[in-house]
Amino acid sequence: MKTRRQFLHHGLHASLLLGMPPYLLGAKKSAQYRTALIGCGWWGMNILREAIAAGRSQVVGLCDVYQRPLEASLDEVQQLTGSSPRLYRDYEEMLEKEKPEVVIVATPDHWHALPCIKAMELGAHVFVEKPTSHTIGESQAMLQVARATGRTVQVGLHRRIGPHHVSGMAFLRSGKLGRIGLVKMFVTSSGTGPEEPTPHTKEPRGMDWDRWCGPAPWRPYCRRLTPGGWRNFLDYANGTLGDWGVHWIDQMLWWSPEPYPKTVFSTGGRPILGPPVSDPDRGSTTDAPDTQMVTFGFESFTAIWEHRKYAGNPQENHRIGAYFYGTEGIFHMGWRDGWTFYPRKASESTVHQEPSFDHVEDGHNLTLLWQDFIDAIDQARPPVADIAPAHRSSLLPMLGMISHRLGRSLNWDGQTESILGDSEAKSLMRRAYRQPWTYPSLQSKTSSNQPSP
Ligand SMILES: NC(=O)c1ccc[n+]([C@@H]2O[C@H](COP(=O)([O-])OP(=O)(O)OC[C@H]3O[C@@H](n4cnc5c(N)ncnc54)[C@H](O)[C@@H]3O)[C@@H](O)[C@H]2O)c1
Repeated sequence: MKTRRQFLHHGLHASLLLGMPPYLLGAKKSAQYRTALIGCGWWGMNILREAIAAGRSQVVGLCDVYQRPLEASLDEVQQLTGSSPRLYRDYEEMLEKEKPEVVIVATPDHWHALPCIKAMELGAHVFVEKPTSHTIGESQAMLQVARATGRTVQVGLHRRIGPHHVSGMAFLRSGKLGRIGLVKMFVTSSGTGPEEPTPHTKEPRGMDWDRWCGPAPWRPYCRRLTPGGWRNFLDYANGTLGDWGVHWIDQMLWWSPEPYPKTVFSTGGRPILGPPVSDPDRGSTTDAPDTQMVTFGFESFTAIWEHRKYAGNPQENHRIGAYFYGTEGIFHMGWRDGWTFYPRKASESTVHQEPSFDHVEDGHNLTLLWQDFIDAIDQARPPVADIAPAHRSSLLPMLGMISHRLGRSLNWDGQTESILGDSEAKSLMRRAYRQPWTYPSLQSKTSSNQPSP
């Protein structure tokens, strides 16, 4: 397999587009796209259902490192379509054999970058889940390959298209808030502590645990890790800030007059859950902070992320979302509670918009997001949650976690997408991959890292 460096060295733009197989060239405005799913868990299947329902996908391959979700997804695809896509444990084998034109990547965050890059290099358009990646260098490489190959990349930030988010953003931009000086993004949940370690056990039958860990550090299996629990293990994800924060930071950046903050500073820890445990006799706890505040310093305003995993309290009115504080009032962009504007003047009435979801139970707008993805491919235009803005929204939580690890403030240069004057912090923008995987390499700075308008 070619490394990325070799790939870029060989004049990637032209060779890719000219050398691309005929089935990948040209827009197919009504045909079905050969579609494959990598990561057949909860959210991967949510996306695949949308792809099938939209009627523009022929499912040709399903890939997971765990047999149980793989077989469950096959059953469901058979029921929904009558067809039987082939099953794979190795995404590279699937991509090479099935030659999908559209690939969905819904693996845990540490496993986003390599499958996405490989899929794009082989000519597929990609729908990848948020956040774009686990470390900054991976996301930068993904963006660069997306631009070099000209592939459409939609990131699963469905709040970019959810109806109340769209109308809320229009309200925010209408000027009715006056001058906005502060944005606070937050999530709170109930919980108690301290966290008891979960014993290390053998992984479930049919799960390839070594491959699940993949390029990230290997650690002993415990039930808390899968499915979904990896979010709070920092080897594989970036805790609540990476998981929930990216959605609300994305809303803030969608509104923001500036593409990047200048400074990032995180405080917090695990005052309730207690110090992380990873012990052969006792097992493992999670290791992500239960309490975190990150201040993002922009030139014209300040943004704050805040989460706590305890003391969820209805007295607080809104428990998730983003508050925009303006000279004429406070605007809350929420989830199941829609959006609300609280005017400064008592004589004016509160303005409220209820949400509307494509899927009420999971509270998402994936129907709209998938349709936009297919339209973007057909029309050769950027999708609403294009990788460039999604990359920036994903960077901010990663910067917050670097500041959290080092306990100091970071100075960020958006032009070069680099941490200034702190070589230790800068080194944490990437990490060593476990063999045999190779960290995606990045060509020297190109315009591809610049934010799109
Ligand atoms: N946009 C949203 O609102 C939203 C909501 C939920 C989840 N997500 C994102 O979706 C992704 C998946 O989350 P989830 O909750 O479904 O997790 P999950 O743990 O339920 O599922 C992940 C699946 O990926 C599989 N997997 C792991 N490594 C793999 C590999 N190398 N190749 C193929 N399969 C592999 C796992 O076995 C598992 O079945 C995450 O990135 C998460 O952040 C987004």
